[in-house]
Amino acid sequence: MSDTLHSDRVRIFDTTLRDGEQSPGASMNLDEKIRIAEILEQMGVDVIEAGFPIASNGDFEAVHEISKILRESTVCGLARADKKDIERAAEALKPARHKRIHTFISTSPLHMKYKLQMDPEDVCQAVIDSVKWARNLCDDVEWSPEDGTRTEHDFLCRTVESAINAGATTINIPDTVGYSTPDEFGSLISMLFLRVPNIDKAIVSTHCHNDLGLAVANSLAGVANGARQVECAVNGLGERAGNAALEEVVMSLHTRSDILPYRSTIKTEFITRVSHLVSTVTGFVVQNNKAIVGANAFAHEAGIHQDGMLKHSGTYEIMTPESVGLVQSKLVLGKHSGRHAFRSKLQELGYDLGDNAIEDAFTRFKNLADRKKDIFDDDLVAIVDDEVLRTNDRIRLLSMKVICGTHDRQTADLELEIDGTTKATSATGDGPVDATFNAIKDLFPHKALLQLYQVSAVTQGTDAQAEVTVRLEENGKSVNGQGADTDTLVASARAYVNALNKLLVKRDKTAPRALSA
Ligand code: KIV
Ligand code: ZN
Repeated sequence: MSDTLHSDRVRIFDTTLRDGEQSPGASMNLDEKIRIAEILEQMGVDVIEAGFPIASNGDFEAVHEISKILRESTVCGLARADKKDIERAAEALKPARHKRIHTFISTSPLHMKYKLQMDPEDVCQAVIDSVKWARNLCDDVEWSPEDGTRTEHDFLCRTVESAINAGATTINIPDTVGYSTPDEFGSLISMLFLRVPNIDKAIVSTHCHNDLGLAVANSLAGVANGARQVECAVNGLGERAGNAALEEVVMSLHTRSDILPYRSTIKTEFITRVSHLVSTVTGFVVQNNKAIVGANAFAHEAGIHQDGMLKHSGTYEIMTPESVGLVQSKLVLGKHSGRHAFRSKLQELGYDLGDNAIEDAFTRFKNLADRKKDIFDDDLVAIVDDEVLRTNDRIRLLSMKVICGTHDRQTADLELEIDGTTKATSATGDGPVDATFNAIKDLFPHKALLQLYQVSAVTQGTDAQAEVTVRLEENGKSVNGQGADTDTLVASARAYVNALNKLLVKRDKTAPRALSA
């Protein structure tokens, strides 16, 4: 038995910013990725896969910038088994204090024949060459056999052994298509420990997709059979049905340490915050009954449950809401609160804003306090998230007035500032939202298509702020814009304008040459 099996520590490898961002529509911009990476580091994530540097300039920049900022977590960049990919990843990771190159190639018969059109001998050589090349550039190298769970066992063992001999320090076994089951996946990991002679020289990792809803169960089965790294994503984001959900893996280890005697070093109280941030920036709503982070995950509706909870919370609660950072949204500042109280409240909520951003957020808070009786923590988070999103915007919403009702078409009068010039228009539409968006299109003509329009309430009550997400798509690339306001139409306009601003940044940054490399 290897030392890995004796150690009870499970490393958490987060791929929200790489595999997560690969889900159609879940694009994030650089600022959003940095904010997510910072929280992931604060919460104790061991490895953060920040992107696939050869895929686009945006991915390169994300890995590079995150590498400059993080001090504790290892920053990882993905690369195919190709010299140029690996060099691009190494270049992006240069500033990182702790860095890892993750290189992969398909090993299943199906993928080798149809996707790669390579024979197994050449694939095996590519494994050796790519890992050696990566090790020339970085001491920490992870290798993955893509479609690992549908790979023939003899070939899997051979490639894993070769990768370790070539210098891989982590061997990650992907269930790329989410096809495996817990028994089967656990046996696969166990088989590697039995048959690969040098397996003790690497950490074995799991990377399970959720096509059959088994990603977390498969990952835990992997751990029970010797894996000591789990790859996962916040809210289970990822290709198709997603990756194993970070919060579910972590809370399973935490809550069932009696039968899962392994430990992660994650500070679980950050879970709710990171989940909310990922959901807001991607526009991927968390379903109400989602484990750990769904709105109902800690709600007790049935009378009999409520009665039990009053007598002893353990009757129906296997973990506390506080353990995942879910605290009752507190009534906070009022109309008369000053800047100092506002700043310290934001610090308490984990925000460290510059003077200008504080000033803008404070003005928004005062405006909100004039319109809304009670202001909760969640209101402040919405204001600050909204304000932070708007730095460096080329297009700004100055004012708007919408006429709606049962008669006539709805009309929106709108004033925008575009690159410093004020422009105004009046437009009609089928409903007030349509009229508002038509007015924006009138002032800033564009061909982007609206793919998503989503509204949710930040707190309860009819005076609650609306949080709106708008997804726009142009040339196959999508962006998500957000806006918050007590007026749903103002929030909608802000979200649309935010999406347009992101699109403009994306247009500047997309380099067709890098994308097709
Ligand atoms: O699902 C997968 O196989 C991957 C690899 C790149 C690890 O994401
Ligand atoms: Zn994957």
